[in-house]
Order: sequence, then C-alpha cells, then structure tokens
Amino acid sequence: MKFFIDTANLEQIKEAQELGVLDGVTTNPSLMAKEGITGEQNILKHYVDICSIVEGDVSAEVVSTDFDGMVKEGEALAKLHDQIVVKVPMIKEGVKALKYFSDKGIRTNCTLVFSVGQALLAAKAGATYVSPFLGRLDDISTDGLNLISEIRLIYDNYAFDTQILAASIRHTMHVIDCAKLGADVMTGPLSSIEGLLKHPLTDIGLAKFLADYQKGNS
Ligand code: E4P
Repeated sequence: MKFFIDTANLEQIKEAQELGVLDGVTTNPSLMAKEGITGEQNILKHYVDICSIVEGDVSAEVVSTDFDGMVKEGEALAKLHDQIVVKVPMIKEGVKALKYFSDKGIRTNCTLVFSVGQALLAAKAGATYVSPFLGRLDDISTDGLNLISEIRLIYDNYAFDTQILAASIRHTMHVIDCAKLGADVMTGPLSSIEGLLKHPLTDIGLAKFLADYQKGNS
C-alpha cells in the first residue's frame, strides 16, 4: 500500500518524507488556499517545491470545468515536473479529459468520487488513480469503506490498471481498514500516518527496558 500525504504544507510534507515511508502527495484547491498559496505562478511554483521534497507522485488539481480548459491546464501542470499527476474532477467534461490525458500518456487522478459507477467510469476512461472520498461519505452517515470494497471487487473483476487511492482519510483506523480492503494507496493527514506507530504497551515496554538498563549501568 502506498502512503500519500494530503496537504500542501511543506513542513508536514518534509516531516512525512523524513519518516521514510512517504510515496507521494495529494493537494486540492482548498488545501492550497489553506496554506495561503494564491495566484497562478505561486501555485505552479508550490507544486515544483513539493516535487523537490518527495520522490513520488504529486497530484495537482485543475480548476477548469470544461474540456478545453482542463486539457490546457493539465498539459501545463504535467510539463512542470515528471512527478505531477493531473487531478481531474468526476464530471462529464472530466471523463473526456481523463481519456484525452490517458491517450497522451499523461497520468491522472480522478477526484471527487463517491460511487462505484463513477469509479467504473474513471477506470474506463483510463485514470491512473481514482479517489473515492471515504471521510466525506462517513460525514453523511454513508459507509465509505463499503465503497472502497466494491470498487476493489469491480476493478479486480476486469483487471483494471487504475489504482484505488482512498482519499478523505481522517484517522489511523481508516488507513488500516483501507489496507484490509486492498486499497492501492491512501492519502491522509500526517496524524493518520503517525497514528500507526502508537501503542501504549510499546511506550510502557520501552520505559521499562530503559529503566532496567539504567539500574544495571549507572
Ligand atoms: C483527495 O485527494 C482530497 O484532497 C482529500 O482527501 C479530501 O479530504 P477531506 O474530505 O478531508 O477534505
């Protein structure tokens, strides 16, 4: 399972990268705005900065909603750096753009996916990644994990190459559940990754080992 961090915050990206388990980054216009990154040139520069920190894929989202606009933006984003993956929303024009990019060899991440039908369409259009938004479904009392499991079933039935990128991960249990269900990738906040290393018995055990060492070596 690949681990992506879902942020545009360079410090957090560096921290995750230093942990040694980071495979990529996802961003979206809200995350960029949260970091105060505005204006076309600043946004493009920020993507390049992110690429210089991580070795893996960096999703950069288009903001156009028409085919021509998405193609223009996506081609410019893809030219920025070979780690860039063009993030395209699951709308009709987006599906056309996914197919266009796929035919051109430009990698894509189909975002804002909330149903198996949308995921099937994204795979048919040749998306590199499909991003089902787990947490946002949970927010409206719908089983987000079930969506991951149904997409896995359908993709396996037809051996689609599209990778399931479990998105809108909110906490560590989401990461573990997605791993059990066979999601190819998860993207979440740094806390969801760091939560994996925590166990009270580890802390208690380490404190005892160190105390016993001190007793015999002081
Ligand atoms: C996915 O790529 C999105 O950036 C993200 O996971 C959305 O998460 P949120 O629902 O926590 O905003």
